[in-house]
Amino acid sequence: MSVKVGIDQIGFYTPDQYLPLADLAVARGDDPNKYLIGIGQTKQAVIPPTQDVVTMAANAAEQILSDTTKSEIAMVLFGTESGVDNSKASAVYLAHLLGLPTNTRAIEVKQACYGATAGLQIAADFVRVHPAAKVLVIGADIARYGLHSAGEVTQGGGAIAMMVTANPRVLTLDAVSSYHTEDVMDFWRPVYRTEALVDGRYSTNVYLKFFETVWQDYQRQTGKTIADFTAFVFHLPFTKMGRKGLRQILPTASADQQASLTANFEASQEDNRNVGNLYTGSLYLSFLSLLRHGQLQGGETVGFFSYGSGAEGEFFSGTVEPTYRKGFAEAKIAAMLDQRTAVTVDEYEELFNEQLPNDAEDVRLPVGTEHARYYLAGR
Ligand code: HMG
Repeated sequence: MSVKVGIDQIGFYTPDQYLPLADLAVARGDDPNKYLIGIGQTKQAVIPPTQDVVTMAANAAEQILSDTTKSEIAMVLFGTESGVDNSKASAVYLAHLLGLPTNTRAIEVKQACYGATAGLQIAADFVRVHPAAKVLVIGADIARYGLHSAGEVTQGGGAIAMMVTANPRVLTLDAVSSYHTEDVMDFWRPVYRTEALVDGRYSTNVYLKFFETVWQDYQRQTGKTIADFTAFVFHLPFTKMGRKGLRQILPTASADQQASLTANFEASQEDNRNVGNLYTGSLYLSFLSLLRHGQLQGGETVGFFSYGSGAEGEFFSGTVEPTYRKGFAEAKIAAMLDQRTAVTVDEYEELFNEQLPNDAEDVRLPVGTEHARYYLAGR
């Protein structure tokens, strides 16, 4: 019998400040309901100049590491599209910060928001061959579109850290999955730009088309139907996007199942609604949100739709383990989200302009706001 492989633990970090999106709507002359209901976002993480993808990843990983697990990590796969270096992998900085053994592979994986899914699937295949190994998979990003842009309301940031092992406590991954790649210009960020270029409405159509394609292919490969699933989690650039994905397939479910899938979707969008887009980490924040706010039972099946612009989509599935609540630090995550401070639109704009990497020796530390263990104090 083949070994069970999947997600053993999940850590999550987002900075300690947020922008209330009703305030942003007023400042931009929009109806707040467009942001709160039409887009489906309530709060947006504001990233201080003291955090980048490496420090955020370290803060997320720290939640799930002990000295013993550190010594067992064979590989670090760091999914990001807002890395700090075009050459050196963020994973190398991270491995050093966390004090991981030097006989560890540490690499960065890039394909827009899909990078962490690529990391997760590579990790799972590695552990299937080396069942004693643990692989640390990261999805960390800062989602930036620019002040006054249409995408501004869909910004955010943070990091997810997942430990992939044999006999996992949270989720056993199914080996079958369906993926699809096409060269599409819906969202991209050339190396000379600090903000993404995006054809926003087109990108939402490509997302839905890719979901349809991989969902159909997954059903064809496995013979499963919607009736086999307890919940679906989506890459959530903004929560309305996943809601549209779910609505695309809901009519094929019974009335009772439609109600329970919708209730599970509500649970899975709660944390994303209050943090914003994490790019690579968004799908996994949504899964964590489902674990935190839903009522899952061991043995139930969850479907995952991962999407990265450019574009790549993947649908895969996993079985929830009865021990799943042991795989994340609920009290720490709840406190981190509850204890964040709201910033004004003016403060947000100032921080937005300071967030960019530069060659300055000092990084301004916002007094009294930096509570994370890992942060940038200088370069
Ligand atoms: P927009 O043009 O400002 O918004 O941009 P809109 O006019 O399309 O309105 C949005 C929704 O609000 C609509 O609902 C309106 O009806 C509704 P829908 O028809 O879509 O259901 N609305 C209201 N609702 C209630 N009360 C009101 C009201 N007014 C309007 N008063 C857009 C929206 C998403 C295009 C923009 O924010 C954007 O460009 N975002 C960035 C791109 C993006 O997130 N794309 C998602 C798919 S691509 C992806 O997921 C990959 C990505 O994560 C990157 C990566 O892979 O690396 C982005």
